Amino acid sequence: MIATAHPLVQHPLEPLTAAEVAAAVAIARSCKSLGESFRFPCVTLHEPPKSVVLEFQVGDRIHREAFLILLDNATGNTYECVISLTEQSVLSWQHIPNVQPNIMADELVECEAAVKAHPDFLAALARRGITDLDCVVVDPWAIGNFGFADEVGIRLSRAICYLRSVPDGNFYSRPIDGLVPVVDLNTMQVLRIEDFGIVPVPPEPGEYARRFMPDQRTDIKPLHITQPEGTSFEVEGHHIRWQKWDFRIGFTPREGVVLHRVCYEDRGKLRSILYRASLSEMVVPYGDPRPQHFRKNAFDLGEHGVGMLANSLKLGCDCLGEIYYFDAALTDSRGNVAITENAICLHEEDYGILWKHTDWRLNEAEVRRSRRLALSFIATVDNYEYGFFWYFYQDGTIQYEVKLTGNLLCGALDNVGKYGTLVAPELNAINHQHFFSMRLDFDLDGMANSVYEVNTEAEPMGDRNPYGNAFYAQPTLLSTEQSAQRLIDPFKARYWKVVNDSVHNRLGQPVGYKIMPGDNAVPYAHPNSPILKRAGFMTKHLWVTPYACNERYAAGAYPNQHLGGEGLPQWTQANRSIENTDIVVWYTFGHHHIPRPEDYPVMPTAYSGFMIKPVGFFDASPAMDVPPSAPKESCH
Ligand code: CO
Repeated sequence: MIATAHPLVQHPLEPLTAAEVAAAVAIARSCKSLGESFRFPCVTLHEPPKSVVLEFQVGDRIHREAFLILLDNATGNTYECVISLTEQSVLSWQHIPNVQPNIMADELVECEAAVKAHPDFLAALARRGITDLDCVVVDPWAIGNFGFADEVGIRLSRAICYLRSVPDGNFYSRPIDGLVPVVDLNTMQVLRIEDFGIVPVPPEPGEYARRFMPDQRTDIKPLHITQPEGTSFEVEGHHIRWQKWDFRIGFTPREGVVLHRVCYEDRGKLRSILYRASLSEMVVPYGDPRPQHFRKNAFDLGEHGVGMLANSLKLGCDCLGEIYYFDAALTDSRGNVAITENAICLHEEDYGILWKHTDWRLNEAEVRRSRRLALSFIATVDNYEYGFFWYFYQDGTIQYEVKLTGNLLCGALDNVGKYGTLVAPELNAINHQHFFSMRLDFDLDGMANSVYEVNTEAEPMGDRNPYGNAFYAQPTLLSTEQSAQRLIDPFKARYWKVVNDSVHNRLGQPVGYKIMPGDNAVPYAHPNSPILKRAGFMTKHLWVTPYACNERYAAGAYPNQHLGGEGLPQWTQANRSIENTDIVVWYTFGHHHIPRPEDYPVMPTAYSGFMIKPVGFFDASPAMDVPPSAPKESCH
């Protein structure tokens, strides 16, 4: 008898509870008689159809379903499965041919152990004079797909090796360049040790841990953030209300935090902005062509899963102030429930001035403090840390910001490396980029939305513009998927505006929100390169598709070892209409990274992201009802 899951959940979009995760795995195991060879790359909520969510009323009966991806190590087969937690049954079970699900943390551990026990690896270390295995680190990476016939159909990892200078030292600063074990992750057999020749390990330890840093600055006095009356937000399950904002959050092993049903209260009425918003994929293409480096292209969602790699956050260190934490109920690769405590952080921040004007004739200043609501999690994906932050502002703006920190991926310098930067003696940090694809399912005051590109044009000098000063914003409707594949253009002050053409503000303008590009880049990989085929989404900053519930991930559902072409480039070949219909906007932003010596040994946080800002969604500034703060006497 399987333990019954009692979902004390108030809404169909509540993430699976730990009990539901356990029940889903138990039902799958029992109904399909699964043996020990099965792994569970993904166990998450099977989100109900949009119509069910939109029609849901408090008190309605909720049917709970779980979506599972399973990998059978014995056969190498991948399955997708939908479990009814309500009926305790398997609703669907499907073999997905020719795919590799994401790499799981347990596989990394098992892979490292297999390599470190292999005689060929030990011999390769001995050739380099390395005998202390406690200082050797084997860091498995996704192998990618470069069309090599002997890699088809085998679940593979290619590892990067490092040598710590002491057993508890930093290893990213000391690559054993040119030594690459290749492992079958289904059998955990070492298939080969690629050896591109002996390169000395860079000499500097590159330590960053506190215990190695005796000289710390001593002139920092305490800075406290206190909210003596508590926070201004309310949380019920995963439903969050803060001032005029009202939304739900989810958390998936692949995407991490997901926003659901983002609404803003306007004169007593909740108005819909986004039905669902999340990071859909990211990729980090590296730019060194040498044989030990050319495969480095991490798909951090599809090959790993940033939710699975989320940190347990620490109050006072990761987060400062009055914090509300959400735990995440996940699994290890064997399907055992694994709770990441304090995975998601919610808090308020003072954000300077919201608005101000001084009327010097009246000797009167009106000023309002801006406060923003920050919702975040941090994932450690191998060498890098990514902080994924949503910010909600009092003027209706939503901001998404990725905070990038952690260790650079380096090679040892065996020749002049123009594809990287010397960041320490003999340590070459490889040029790379980080591309993020955001899936934004807009529902602005209803589902029927359209997208306009807005370019600013200079009016030609002439009768209408005798002094040459005139310029104007020129909107162009993007009516089909292929016409909506666009790039940023700062010389046109380009932005994209999502509107509901059948709902108007008091001025008769259609209600809208605009995508405001921030930090961005284009890929430098060749159009015929394997990585551009596999991550086609990064070739355009804007994509728009009509809503389809199964179109979730920009590089397809299974990018690990995939040849490419899936996801946005494939779906949009149909060139469907995106006018006045339920649309999904996909925004790509890239962070270009030519490493600096100052990024070593741990890089100070870099910031990249964009904003979603109201344009005529409101009748006027929605922030005029923010009251003034009480002035304080200065104490010093
Ligand atoms: Co970087």
